[in-house]
Amino acid sequence: MNIKEYFPPPENFPAIKKSEAWPHPVYTEEQMRQIVIAHRKTNNWSDWVALKSVQVLRSVTDFATGYRHDKEVAAGIKDSRDANRKRFAMDERKWLVRFLFLESVAGVPGMVGGMLRHLHSLRRMKRDNGWIETLLEEAYNERMHLLTFLKMAEPGWFMRLMVLGAQGVFFNGFFLAYLISPRTCHRFVGYLEEEAVITYTRAINDLDTGKLPRWENLEAPAFAVKYWDMPEGHRKIRDLLLYIRADEAKHREVNHTLGNLSQQDPNPYVAEYKDPNIPRPSKGLTTLKPTGWERDEVLR
Ligand SMILES: [Fe+2]
Ligand SMILES: [Fe+2]
Repeated sequence: MNIKEYFPPPENFPAIKKSEAWPHPVYTEEQMRQIVIAHRKTNNWSDWVALKSVQVLRSVTDFATGYRHDKEVAAGIKDSRDANRKRFAMDERKWLVRFLFLESVAGVPGMVGGMLRHLHSLRRMKRDNGWIETLLEEAYNERMHLLTFLKMAEPGWFMRLMVLGAQGVFFNGFFLAYLISPRTCHRFVGYLEEEAVITYTRAINDLDTGKLPRWENLEAPAFAVKYWDMPEGHRKIRDLLLYIRADEAKHREVNHTLGNLSQQDPNPYVAEYKDPNIPRPSKGLTTLKPTGWERDEVLR
């Protein structure tokens, strides 16, 4: 399956150069290996609403992608290919379907948030304090995840229908929710990304325990090698999943942090701080905080 088949360019159409609008930050292997599953406790009603919404969305996704989370399987105590679990055993194809669905949804919030803040800035004739670019960058990064997986699998009609429905419902729902409470929406994305880290961690475990033999020696698509600047000798599917999981962990941190801020606060991910000795949020993985930075930590 090749991307060109999806979007055939007109004849004699010049090739598009690699986009340099949002170069991907460099991650080291050590940093990526240290990514952990994490959960931020709910502190108020808004957090609770965000968490419950993610849990509902997660059930829909599990249904759409034929996935069932089994704690014993995730912990490696039981094999997902046992006879009574067979229906929900994940193979390469099923993982890809799940990734495609997840990523098609994941690309929506950053674009909606960025768009609404853009419109707000135009309408109120006020500066945005740097949030827009981080939100759009996140949407771009999620789309790169989707395009990478599209290089590996072609979704069937059922999946396309689910994506279509999900986008129609989710875009509008998120748009309205962001107008009402942007903080709840960022918390929601923070919780969504907690789930994304769990999904990719589990896929990496499946790969490591020999359940995904077709991926063991498979090279990552050239497109991905370019985007993440994957070093030679580290261009397998496992490496790709490490990069993507690290991106999700970053989104988890960014959104939990934005959910802790007031809407007029400067975006700490693009702010220039005077004191270099105090640890601050960064674009890469150097100062990653799985549950986000608190407001007093970034405004002091
Ligand atoms: Fe993603
Ligand atoms: Fe993400």
